[in-house]
Amino acid sequence: MKKIVLAGDHGAVELKNRIADFLKKKNIAVTDLGTSGSEAVDYPDIALAACREFLKGGYDCGILLCGTGIGVSIAANKVKGIRCALISDLFTAEMAKAHNNANFIAFGGRVAYAVPVTEMIEKFLATAYEGGRHERRIAKMMALDEPC
Ligand code: RB5
Repeated sequence: MKKIVLAGDHGAVELKNRIADFLKKKNIAVTDLGTSGSEAVDYPDIALAACREFLKGGYDCGILLCGTGIGVSIAANKVKGIRCALISDLFTAEMAKAHNNANFIAFGGRVAYAVPVTEMIEKFLATAYEGGRHERRIAKMMALDEPC
């Protein structure tokens, strides 16, 4: 059974609930770290909590949400070991896995996407990492976790 950690700020509560329902219907285990109310929370706190949970192990990937997806993705990419891709369509959903082997994807609850977010998630989950030449590039990216 696939397992996903899901979290978002107050800018994406409705989207988070929709994604959680979608994943559960697909028989995917979801760890939902909130937020669930309209009270404002700070997206770096949300991103860090989800990354820490993911890094405990046992997860296939994480999904982060905020108003735009930008704040959570910037924050998550500062956590060692995380590769968070800001997804905008089916092509970026596919490439995020095939080429970047992203372990987190991010979306915005206030963004008007041309395709449903659930379809983009489905595409990401259904795509295989291609490996090969991408291994070298990912190794170089992850080396940036260390001070330059
Ligand atoms: C919160 O108002 C908003 O700034 C946040 O959800 C996100 O869009 C930041 O990138």
